[in-house]
Amino acid sequence: MAGQNVFTGVAWPYASGPRHIGHVAGFGVPSDVFSRFERMRGNHVLMVSGTDEHGTPILLAADAAGVRAKDIADKYSRVISEDLCGLGLSYDLFTRTTTRNHYSIVQEMFRGLHDNGYIFSRSMLGAISPSTGRTLPDRYIEGTCPHCGDPGARGDQCDHCSKQLDPIDLLQPRSRVNGETPAFVKTEHFFLDLRAFGEVLGGWLQTRQGWRPNVLKFTMNLLNDLAPRAISRDLDWGVPIPLDGWADRQDKRLYVWFDAVIGYIAGSVEWARRTGDPDAWKAWWHDPDARAHYFMGKDNVVFHSVMWPSILLGYNGEGSKGGTAGRLGRLNLPERVVSSEFLTMEGRKFSSSRDVVIHVRDFLSRYSSDSLRYYLAAAGPETADTDFTWSAFVSRNNDELVAGWGNLVNRTVSMAAKYFGGIPEAGALNDLDHELLASSRASFGLVGDLLEQQRQRAALAAVMKVVASANKYTSEQRPWALHGSDPERAATVVHVALQVVDDCKSLLTPFLPESSERVHRILGGSAPWSGMPELREVEEDGETYTVLMGDYSTSAVWKSVPIKPGIPLSAPGLLFQKLDSAIVEDELERMGGGAG
Ligand code: MF3
Ligand code: ZN
Repeated sequence: MAGQNVFTGVAWPYASGPRHIGHVAGFGVPSDVFSRFERMRGNHVLMVSGTDEHGTPILLAADAAGVRAKDIADKYSRVISEDLCGLGLSYDLFTRTTTRNHYSIVQEMFRGLHDNGYIFSRSMLGAISPSTGRTLPDRYIEGTCPHCGDPGARGDQCDHCSKQLDPIDLLQPRSRVNGETPAFVKTEHFFLDLRAFGEVLGGWLQTRQGWRPNVLKFTMNLLNDLAPRAISRDLDWGVPIPLDGWADRQDKRLYVWFDAVIGYIAGSVEWARRTGDPDAWKAWWHDPDARAHYFMGKDNVVFHSVMWPSILLGYNGEGSKGGTAGRLGRLNLPERVVSSEFLTMEGRKFSSSRDVVIHVRDFLSRYSSDSLRYYLAAAGPETADTDFTWSAFVSRNNDELVAGWGNLVNRTVSMAAKYFGGIPEAGALNDLDHELLASSRASFGLVGDLLEQQRQRAALAAVMKVVASANKYTSEQRPWALHGSDPERAATVVHVALQVVDDCKSLLTPFLPESSERVHRILGGSAPWSGMPELREVEEDGETYTVLMGDYSTSAVWKSVPIKPGIPLSAPGLLFQKLDSAIVEDELERMGGGAG
């Protein structure tokens, strides 16, 4: 098989509640655009993720709802996989972190690291609530960041400077539950010795190409102060520690970030089993020419650019203490860590508690998935924080999707159907025809380069320029006026325009899979074009849950394919819905007006 093995790791959303459009702007749409493009150019993509179901976000949600952590995880795992399916995100597998397979692979990785000497245990001070005597998980503690002085840092991380923290590091710590000052008591924990990876990580980073400069600089800085990192917690919810004397304890679990990143390999193994070829995952994890790309919001960078590669290096036996690879074999490190900045909502931070939020599900109940994907790809937080506004959403939808692309498809196909009953043969081409066709054809190289560099906004803008030139060409050539007097010229113009429509359909497929499939059918294509994810009910231990999988081995290719004269066409239906500007008021009302 020609083509490269490309692994797409997508950050695992917490199953603590429904996800909002800020989340999918960060990890969802960019990873799907990338994967669809890679498949179209002939590479073998494995795109894996799932819901992240351990840790305090889930415990907080469970406490708030008065139910068990498992109930929250079950409920939102389903909601989230349905929403991601609705967005057409082409996961080869979207699973969850509470499966038997995940537990066993996380424990295997822990044992491998432990055997190689990269994990040690040590007593430390852990936070408890003096009034209840219960352990206070990291996220329940707030205080001032010792690094940047931000007063709102949490016990696991400072969102302001993105440094990882332990609760004991916080200045003026307080409980988020009741405001009291936590007490610190002695407790024993396991640590991953990150210092053993500093040198190898430095060398690895130096050979990374095409990282966004801010992500690279940020990671370089982190390497300057690597310290052992606690990878266990005083909790009863999480993966048990696989060592004698620890495995049966109800009060100690592995740290959620340690287990979650291992989901990339666990999910790959699960995917292979589900496809009936249990060794198939190895093509992406063992092949030295495979390339692994990881997609996430910027608050996830440290875990993917330092912690995950360290876990892999330690398991491989490639840190300063040496060692040998465990039974999963030597595992590939990330090629690229692609992170997005944050999306804000009408100038404010997303906040479910303050109604500054729009959940994916609500969005998709009123608007099409491609219109959201278009907005996020065209105006998302690729390299800087950006603001979502309803008025920009409406104008992008109406001016660019409806009046630009939808109109081009509609007018060219309608004319072809009406005048010729199908795709007409072209006569002699003039310079203008050649020029338009050449620039459309050349876009595959141009847009492909931009996508290769993870410049998705620029890539989409470049396609929309071709759409605009095709609209201009059609308006200026006026095939409707030529049709009576010079039918051959009219046929040529319509043919040329249809060829560009077909090219643009291909160029837009990574961004707009659903409507591109429809354009493909409108132009007479019959085989599936872009491939869509499907929800599957699966069973484990007598319970059912949903996973996302899909067949993406479709006919879509990243090149200009000559259209075939004679194919019958009929007038197409509307491709995109024009939005009434009144929805801006309605949506703002919904956001701000809600009293609860
Ligand atoms: N659950 C985390 C979040 O939503 C992301 C985990 S990414 C993983 O921020 F790779 F660690 F799973
Ligand atoms: Zn800070």
